[in-house]
Amino acid sequence: MQRIKVIAPSSTANLGPGFDVFGLAIDAFYDEIQICKTKYNGIKLHVNKINVNSNQNTASVAINNMRKKFDIKEGVEIFLNKGVPIGAGVGSSAASAAAAVVGFNKIFELDLDHLSLIKFAGIGEKASAGTIHYDNVAAAILGGFVIVRSNPLNVTKIKPPINLRICLAMPQIKTEKQKTKIARSVLPSRIKLADSTYNLSNATQMVCGFMNKDIKAIGDSMKDHIVEKAREKLIPGFYDVKYNAIKEGALGVAISGAGPTMIAIADKSSKLDAICRTMKKSFEKHNLKCNTVICKPSRGTIVK
Ligand code: HSE
Repeated sequence: MQRIKVIAPSSTANLGPGFDVFGLAIDAFYDEIQICKTKYNGIKLHVNKINVNSNQNTASVAINNMRKKFDIKEGVEIFLNKGVPIGAGVGSSAASAAAAVVGFNKIFELDLDHLSLIKFAGIGEKASAGTIHYDNVAAAILGGFVIVRSNPLNVTKIKPPINLRICLAMPQIKTEKQKTKIARSVLPSRIKLADSTYNLSNATQMVCGFMNKDIKAIGDSMKDHIVEKAREKLIPGFYDVKYNAIKEGALGVAISGAGPTMIAIADKSSKLDAICRTMKKSFEKHNLKCNTVICKPSRGTIVK
């Protein structure tokens, strides 16, 4: 029986000003999926070797939609090995969905383009976040830095500078199952024009930073007056983590996606260990244990 193996990376979304628009694939963690066809007409899903309900998982929801769309009668069995931590804000549900759609596309020889794969993965992502957003799935599938325009969907990828490094500080906050939904529910429905201008100017500067491979410009434009203002209260120590990382040489700091992980952008030659140490200490000062990871951008989902 043919078995396809796919790995998909973790990702960080928003990068400050680009809520639901910017995504960056990071090589900190990977989900692995093995997928094979079965005669049984349905989807069987095993997560970390345990049989699970396939109606709610992002991987199987995405695949179910593909089966319906292409009228595929054969069933599939999916073996999902979760390497991306769940509920941390580093694109865990997106990695599973990305690996699943790429694997399904391969095994049924659908030959779909990237945009179609991203659309299907986005449907899977909705099962976890409540609303479709493509920033994490686009980054996980394409790799690198992505810019998403959702309606109509278009995604642009830019290769990040090779010396770009990302420090992740992952506080151990007990998050709800619907964490992203909750983190989205605190966001304002109306914003000031001045805040929109501020974010737009930083977002465009960031795109230029990626195009010019200018890490300082990327870090310098990780500024957001809209989403972080609303979400920082969900992350004890947010201000200290940010302030101390910058003091230690980080070029920019932001909440990773819906949090609670925080990311610091730096150059390969920065004091990466010291930045991680100070972010960890800052969370510990607020009685939170914290893991740190130093990583690079990832090249995206790969069929093994
Ligand atoms: N852009 C999304 C958010 C990412 O910030 O809610 C969540 O994974």
